[in-house]
Amino acid sequence: MGELDNPEWFGLTPSTTAVKRKKLGLPSIGDRPIWTENKAKLIERYLYYFVWVTKHGTYIDAFAGPQRSNEHTMWAAKLVLENRPRYLRNFHLFEKAPESVAALRQLRDAQPPKARGESERTIHIYSGDCNRKIKEFLKTRTIRDAEATFCLLDQRTFECSWSTVEALAQYKQGGHNKIELFYFLANGWIDRAQSKKSDKDGEMKRWWGNEQWQRFFDLRSFDRQKLFSERFRNELGYKHVRAFPIYKRADGGATLYWMIHATDHDAAPVLMNAAYRQALKVKETADQMNLLECEVGRRPSSTP
Ligand SMILES: C[S@@+](CC[C@H](N)C(=O)[O-])C[C@H]1O[C@@H](n2cnc3c(N)ncnc32)[C@H](O)[C@@H]1O
Repeated sequence: MGELDNPEWFGLTPSTTAVKRKKLGLPSIGDRPIWTENKAKLIERYLYYFVWVTKHGTYIDAFAGPQRSNEHTMWAAKLVLENRPRYLRNFHLFEKAPESVAALRQLRDAQPPKARGESERTIHIYSGDCNRKIKEFLKTRTIRDAEATFCLLDQRTFECSWSTVEALAQYKQGGHNKIELFYFLANGWIDRAQSKKSDKDGEMKRWWGNEQWQRFFDLRSFDRQKLFSERFRNELGYKHVRAFPIYKRADGGATLYWMIHATDHDAAPVLMNAAYRQALKVKETADQMNLLECEVGRRPSSTP
């Protein structure tokens, strides 16, 4: 098994020694870890790599509104829309809060017209609970099976129903790669959030997918992300699943989230690893991207 295939590789905690981190090629805590303030940069950078390989694609964002209403510089949907080259052709942005839906509409309307040589782009905004709206949208079969598709599930804690994750994972037919998922699993405050719930309205059950959600809370943080990762692998059938810690502060600190990346594409874990290390640095030039493409075995072909 190569290092990149080692499931422990990305799941190491901040307490892993600097020497071990270096040996495994993990970013050290002092080397720009991804922390909650800049997780949008990780998403932006990954999609920069993703489209370099696919040359097209659809972006779904289930919780698309800005984290902070007055601060849009670290807003995933905005950064991804502004990524160049503009290869992503279709955006489906879901959001429940009316003021955030308004912010999304403003963002859409502020996009410049396509430049010469760029593909047409569509940006759809869906107002309402994504757990209902995504299923309705998927039923329309708007996304072609062969279309490279990425979905961000940036919930705060328990908002994303497991049935929504299942619907996304089961969408593609005919042996095509499943919709790639970026699932945010809360860690830092999840016990506190759960202790305040009586679950009279069944939110925990919807989040976990059945009555067994207490199983999750009986585990330690590290084992929780492993259990979730196993669900993506075993219940949903994803070929590559890895959990990345998102820290509280620039110098490390507590793991606030686990970001679980689930994909069938063989190049995607390498690209995610690169994005995790490079997210806060200047973007690579076209020549550097061509080298990265060689590394993941995607040159000279340009479409998946
Ligand atoms: C963690 S924030 C998303 C942050 C965003 N990805 C960013 O980069 O800034 C979660 C968003 O999901 C929205 N939201 C919460 N529950 C939702 C639901 N059931 N359906 C759709 N949106 C929801 C919230 O209003 C909030 O805008």
